[in-house]
Amino acid sequence: MTKPNMNYANLKDSYLFFGIAQRVKKYSELNPDKKILRLGIGDVSLPLAKTVISALAEGVSDQAEKSSFHGYMPECGAPFLRKTIGEFYRNRGVKISDDEVFVSSGASDELGDILDLFDKENSALVIEPAYPAYVDANIIAGRKNIHLASSIENGFTPDPDEEKKADIIYICSPNNPTGAVFTKEKLKKWVDFANENGSVILFDAAYEAFIEDENIPHSIFEIDGASTCAIEICSLSKTAGFTGTRLGYTVIPKALERQGMNFNSMWVRNRTTKTNGVSYIIQKGGAAVFSKQGQKEIKENIAYYKENAKILMRVLDEFNIEYTGGVNAPYIWLKCPKNLDSWAFFDMLLNEIQVVGTPGEGFGSCGEGFFRFSTFGSHEDTIEAAIRLKSFLKHLFNK
Ligand code: MLT
Repeated sequence: MTKPNMNYANLKDSYLFFGIAQRVKKYSELNPDKKILRLGIGDVSLPLAKTVISALAEGVSDQAEKSSFHGYMPECGAPFLRKTIGEFYRNRGVKISDDEVFVSSGASDELGDILDLFDKENSALVIEPAYPAYVDANIIAGRKNIHLASSIENGFTPDPDEEKKADIIYICSPNNPTGAVFTKEKLKKWVDFANENGSVILFDAAYEAFIEDENIPHSIFEIDGASTCAIEICSLSKTAGFTGTRLGYTVIPKALERQGMNFNSMWVRNRTTKTNGVSYIIQKGGAAVFSKQGQKEIKENIAYYKENAKILMRVLDEFNIEYTGGVNAPYIWLKCPKNLDSWAFFDMLLNEIQVVGTPGEGFGSCGEGFFRFSTFGSHEDTIEAAIRLKSFLKHLFNK
């Protein structure tokens, strides 16, 4: 008889964002006349940049002609896109070669797939609160998760803890959900810790494009020593609005080896076995993101989301509500007012003002008492949500 992967029995009933979507759907069915404002999942609301659309259209035209038609794409990524991304890093002063860049269909897919490189016996350290897929993907693989709680006291960017060593270490900066960023000095501590212990850091850089502080690293490879202990996973979802278009990239240095095995070569072997590459059309659109005009246009979109962050932060400031994020990141992570627990606050906002956010507890138990707003909505919805939130808080604080 088939033995299913029993590790699924160790997962929570449903994935965080799926569970929230179900709750909101139920509420909406019971209250069809209410306008719900969604500041929950970090899904973008602006269309793709014009330059990207033109490149996608060119890609479609190429596929219509025998002379420019593409069949299977190279499994590790089209050479033109690997080169473009390699140059993007090199222009930022990070020395990587094009064949250290792998094109993926998005960071969330890749964060699951990349675990093929690691033994089941490895442990995974997750700095919490954390993007829940890190924990779930390791549970599915039957791996042990070690949780390192961060807090408002350490700015949600903890130092390594000698008592909590692990084979795989997740670091996300700018952080989802807290919006906190790791400085060079902090990252150096983690890089040294990983090299000393033979661990591998999985660095999630999905939100790097939101960094505005010039001292904050965009890539772990800005840190000395990272090429012998880190893999970087990035995405165009948040950078360039590719959530529904799907494209990402991963950097695996050739210097990354453990026990005589080379991770870059292993990933080539993995990709050539498990994929037939990412769509030519989408890679063509992706390359346009890195052009001069593409960069200008995506920065305009990011500035639009940052306006949303300001609108929401103004309300929180007015009520002296403590929060992190919103500056170098598209998320605002706030302390629930009146010490409410995060699901109670979620229900209050949904039922009373029809604003959806994400309860902090969903990102790990140390997220209890916190709440996350995404700033990826439209200005109109964010302004409306801010108005409703302000009147809700006035009432709550009897102001
Ligand atoms: C989030 O809201 O945390 C993200 O949008 C989820 C994701 O990127 O998959």
